Amino acid sequence: MRKTMFILSGIVVGSSLGVVAQHGDPIAQRQNLMKNNQEQVRLLTGMARGQTAFDAARAKAALQAIERNAEQVPALFPAGSHQGKTAALPVIWERKADFDARSAKLAQDAKAAQTRITDQAGLQAVIQPVGQNCGGCHEVYRKKES
Ligand code: HEC
Repeated sequence: MRKTMFILSGIVVGSSLGVVAQHGDPIAQRQNLMKNNQEQVRLLTGMARGQTAFDAARAKAALQAIERNAEQVPALFPAGSHQGKTAALPVIWERKADFDARSAKLAQDAKAAQTRITDQAGLQAVIQPVGQNCGGCHEVYRKKES
């Protein structure tokens, strides 16, 4: 029954947002999405530190991916999806509006950052404010790794 509901909500999400949520397992989907976030941040951090050659187009694409991912986050945490192999804390569903607002803020910051990354210094300046959204949300809503 619960699984059916996920599948149904997945279809709704898929129609309004496109790519990610076409299958029935929101936990796997959001974990994959978050892993993708991490890859993008890794790329951006590498460029900011000069470990990877600075490339404005790649940096912009990474920020766009983070923006798109963030837009999909609220729908990938449907009610009831605290069960299973997940690090999501139940408090998410007690404060879903705040959780969703944090996702929206990340999307906004990632979007704003795209206009400011014409060089490495610009990238350095935007990484921290964007990244704070990640840590800030995990602090409250994700189980600490033990
Ligand atoms: C609105 C809250 C929120 C924001 C913003 C957020 N995350 Fe997450 N993140 C979570 C939650 C909740 C989980 C646990 C998901 C689960 O296990 O179901 C998670 C899990 C993860 C994971 C572990 C995925 C796995 O392998 O299971 C990584 C990595 C991650 N996030 C990276 C990021 C990065 C990088 C950003 C910023 C670009 C970010 N997150 C922004 C809430 C957030």
